[in-house]
Amino acid sequence: MEFKAELLERTEAAEQVVFSFLPEEEGLQKTIFSAMNYSVQAPGKRLRPILMEETFRMFGGRNEAVLHHFMAALEFIHTYSLVHDDLPAMDNDEYRRGRKTTHKVYGEAMGILAGDALLHHAFDTAAGSFLLADVDLGAAGKALKILTEKSGINGMVGGQVVDVEMEGKTLNDEQLDFIYRLKTAALLECAMMIGATLAGADENTVSRIEMIANRVGIAFQIQDDILDRISSTEELGKPVGSDEKNHKMTYVVLHGLEDSEKEVERLSREAVELLDSFEQEHTFLKELIVSLIHRRK
Ligand code: IPE
Ligand code: IPE
Ligand code: MG
Ligand code: MG
Ligand code: MG
Repeated sequence: MEFKAELLERTEAAEQVVFSFLPEEEGLQKTIFSAMNYSVQAPGKRLRPILMEETFRMFGGRNEAVLHHFMAALEFIHTYSLVHDDLPAMDNDEYRRGRKTTHKVYGEAMGILAGDALLHHAFDTAAGSFLLADVDLGAAGKALKILTEKSGINGMVGGQVVDVEMEGKTLNDEQLDFIYRLKTAALLECAMMIGATLAGADENTVSRIEMIANRVGIAFQIQDDILDRISSTEELGKPVGSDEKNHKMTYVVLHGLEDSEKEVERLSREAVELLDSFEQEHTFLKELIVSLIHRRK
C-alpha cells in the first residue's frame, strides 16, 4: 500500500482505539467528560499511539488488548499536556487541532480540570490492562513505569518547567537539548519503548529503541518550531508565532531556519540508520520517520 494511504488507515485505527476509552458524558460532573472528549476528539495526528503500535508489531507483539490500553493512555497524557500548554498561564493560545482551545470553550478552571482529568484517566486506562486475560503482568508493569517516568518530572512535565522558566532568556545548545528531550522527545520515547516492552523485547533492545525515538523526538520539536515560524494557522491548526509572542528561545532562534531544517534531516537520518540496524521488518516505521522531516502540520 502507498505510504499516505497506509498512514491514514493507521491513524483512523489508532483513533478508534483511543476513542473507545473515552468516558460517557453523563452525571453531575458531565462538563468534565465533555471537556475531555472535546480535547481528545479534536483531529490530532495520533503519532504517539501509531509509533507505539508499529514498534509493538515490529517485535512481534501479540496481546493487542493490552497494547490498546497503553495507546489510549499515552494519547490522553499527550492531550492533557496540550490542554495545559495552551492555558493563559503557559503559552496562552486560542487554537489547537483546528479548534478553539479547551479553556476558550469551557473556561480556564475547566481547562485545568480537563487536563487533570485526562491525566488520571490515562493511568486508570493503563492500570485497566492489568485485569485483562492473558496479560503478561511483568511487561505491563514495566510499561506503566515507562509511562510515569516519561510523562513526569524527569520527562514531559520537567521539560515544560524549564521551557517556562527560560522564557525570555538566552539558552545554550545543551540547555535547549535538555528542554526538547524532556518536553517532547520523552513522550515519543515512551511510545516506542512501551510498544517494544509489551511485545517482550529485552532491555538492551528497549534502550536502542529509546535512542531512535530520542532523535525522532528532538527533530519533531525543531520542526514544530520551524512551522511556528513559516506555516499558517489554517494549515497548522494552531497559532503561528506563538513562540515569538512568548519570547521562547527555540532552535530556530538560535540557529536560523536553514540550519534547523538541516538538523531535522540529520537527526531523522540518524534515527533511520539506528532503526536499520534491526533485522526485524520496519518498512512503515522508517517511512513514517522520513515523512516527518517535511511534515507541514
Ligand atoms: C504538539 O504535538 C506538541 C509538541 C510536542 C510539538 P503534535 O504535533 O503531535 O500534536 P497533535 O497531537 O498532532 O495535535
Ligand atoms: C510543547 O511545545 C510541548 C508540550 C509538552 C505540550 P510547544 O508549546 O511548542 O507545543 P505547541 O506548539 O503549543 O503544540
Ligand atoms: Mg509550550
Ligand atoms: Mg505551545
Ligand atoms: Mg510549538
